[in-house]
Amino acid sequence: MKRELVVTAYRKEDIILDGNRFLLANGHLGYRGTLEEYGKEQLVSLTIAGVYDQYQDQWRENLSLPNPFYFKAHYEGKEISVLAEEPLSHKTSLDIAKAVYQRESEFEELSISSTRFVSHDDDALLGERIEVVAKQAGTYRFRYGLSTDIYEIHGPHFASMKVESKGRQTSFRGVTNEGKSMYVLAQFDGLEGTYEEETGLYEAEMKLKAGQKVALDILARVDEDKPEPLPKKGFEELLDASIRAYEKKLYACQVEIEGDDELDFEIAYSIYHVLILGDKKRVRSIAARGLSGQTYKGAVFWDTEIFLLPFYVLADPEVARNLLLYRIHTLEGAKQKAKSLGYSGAYYAWESQDSGLEACRSDNVTDPVTGEPVITYFGTKQIHISADVVYAIDRYIEATGDLSILKEGADKVILEVARFFFSYSFIDKAGNRHLKDVIGPDEYHERVDDEAFTLLMAERVGKVLLKYLHVKDLSEEDAKIYRLCEKANWAKPREKNGVIEEFKGYFDLEDIDVVSLKKRLVHSQDYWGGKDGIATKTQVIKQADVVALLALCPEDFTLKAKKANYEYYFPRTEHGSSLSASMHCLLGVSIGREEEAYRFLRSSSGIDIRGAEKLFAGGVYIGGTHPAANAGAYLGLIYGFLGAHLQEGVLSLRPQLPKGITKVTFHYQRKNKVYEVSAYSDGRYQIKETKL
Ligand code: BGC
Repeated sequence: MKRELVVTAYRKEDIILDGNRFLLANGHLGYRGTLEEYGKEQLVSLTIAGVYDQYQDQWRENLSLPNPFYFKAHYEGKEISVLAEEPLSHKTSLDIAKAVYQRESEFEELSISSTRFVSHDDDALLGERIEVVAKQAGTYRFRYGLSTDIYEIHGPHFASMKVESKGRQTSFRGVTNEGKSMYVLAQFDGLEGTYEEETGLYEAEMKLKAGQKVALDILARVDEDKPEPLPKKGFEELLDASIRAYEKKLYACQVEIEGDDELDFEIAYSIYHVLILGDKKRVRSIAARGLSGQTYKGAVFWDTEIFLLPFYVLADPEVARNLLLYRIHTLEGAKQKAKSLGYSGAYYAWESQDSGLEACRSDNVTDPVTGEPVITYFGTKQIHISADVVYAIDRYIEATGDLSILKEGADKVILEVARFFFSYSFIDKAGNRHLKDVIGPDEYHERVDDEAFTLLMAERVGKVLLKYLHVKDLSEEDAKIYRLCEKANWAKPREKNGVIEEFKGYFDLEDIDVVSLKKRLVHSQDYWGGKDGIATKTQVIKQADVVALLALCPEDFTLKAKKANYEYYFPRTEHGSSLSASMHCLLGVSIGREEEAYRFLRSSSGIDIRGAEKLFAGGVYIGGTHPAANAGAYLGLIYGFLGAHLQEGVLSLRPQLPKGITKVTFHYQRKNKVYEVSAYSDGRYQIKETKL
């Protein structure tokens, strides 16, 4: 069973890709998989979740902190690093069963190896051991320390910084443009370097014999508001504690596949990339690019409610609950957003940060040739986000039976979201409610009317309200919303031969296939949507939209409807978002298109290993890890092929394993107990309690 991602050659063109695929994180801190000698050009970034800053009128984004793992070697005055010369050999690896990163490079003059962790035991902590073996006798010089040469997209985010050294420790205090104090404390043991004031780095020069080894142990911690001391423990002890804590998290959700080694590894790797983002301690959500940098402003999208939540419902229900609590805590922001746009109730941010206010801007996409913004309306028109939050609350309660979330404030969220949809909609002469001027999951078609996904998800909000709220508990004002839900008559999207029209007028647009449409691109990075995009006036869509609706609400549609819609939309979907594949996988399995579903599954599960995803939307860098697609791979396998259904904590399955797979075993967690499920190719399955 392979549980290590290994790359055995050094390729400059893979610097960004490797930064993503070798990422370490613990739900609170993330450290890109970059080499010690790298700086900001190579996108070195230590990221913290949930702390944001805005510099001037630039995009507000999550913070990137100083890098404690900077290290560069010199031999007889010459820099020895992958940046200066081609290494004789090079290996980078990530042990996904332990959450440990390692690097080994061999040059003529020396070899360098390192072991790195971002602690799963104490989430403020990260550490690294660097070892250098001299291969030739001579003078070696090592520069290392807490480097402020870090990658920021829309910075600088520290209005003031102070770096100081006391013996083996360097401390950083930075105050952000928004006035937040951040602290990084790093300790360097093993080399007796001299501290340089100007650079904040240490320099150690020494004569080494051939074969002589030197080692540097680095421990660092990150604190908000108040600095804390480093633990008085050694590197090995802290590394061990992190491994043990990670193994425990993994044990509760591991998956093993017999009969398909590639999928087995890719699913394990996908789980790694989602599991390293969950935070049990804080009420936080998960950003669309996880902790892999500042792409998408470190913001939270519908990715969390639709893709990540169902993973955590099985893997760690406490994290799932936290994801919902985040929306409860940001209800005020959602209400303010609604109000600022002239609506009542709660309109959740399309790109949500700490306060829940909208972080999405109309200049989100740029023209790759002119650099000018391509105006988009995601932040003001993608109203399905509010319905997605309510959908997630409902699914969470159905699966876990945890009604206490309602009292924690989910009841208010449901009510305010319902209020919002009533204020956004209008009633036609026949008494039907419509939603005008919206954007569905298919972002290439903006400002459309009666968008099917949005309309049906909005209707669902009313049903969820009636299911969980009682009119007798409501104030007179709120009872009006209840009554509106009782009698609301939502318009139905148009249908042709059983195919749901994505939005009003969609069927009248030019019907062209994706490959032919692509030929119309002037620049390979041109944005397909917006006012003049190549897809805008055609039926080509960005990602699963009607297909997503059917995959998410399978009980509401017949098999015939599922087949008709899948077949119609499949050839018209560009899959321009990594979220598209898993929805096609889920729906594909349910209509017997297993082979295609398997290909969609692999497209999700291998996404961050292959790194074939778009790096740019227009001129804007959108790279990073894809946690929602990774979680989507898990959904495709566990909820799709295995047919898992969790109802008030009771799991049932309907296994239909992909061809060649003989057995799938997976663990899930319920009330602090871990259960092991084994599913076989003949449709049998068994569930038993298990112990670490
Ligand atoms: C997709 C959205 C998604 C966002 C973040 C966009 O490209 O269209 O649906 O939420 O990326 O992953």
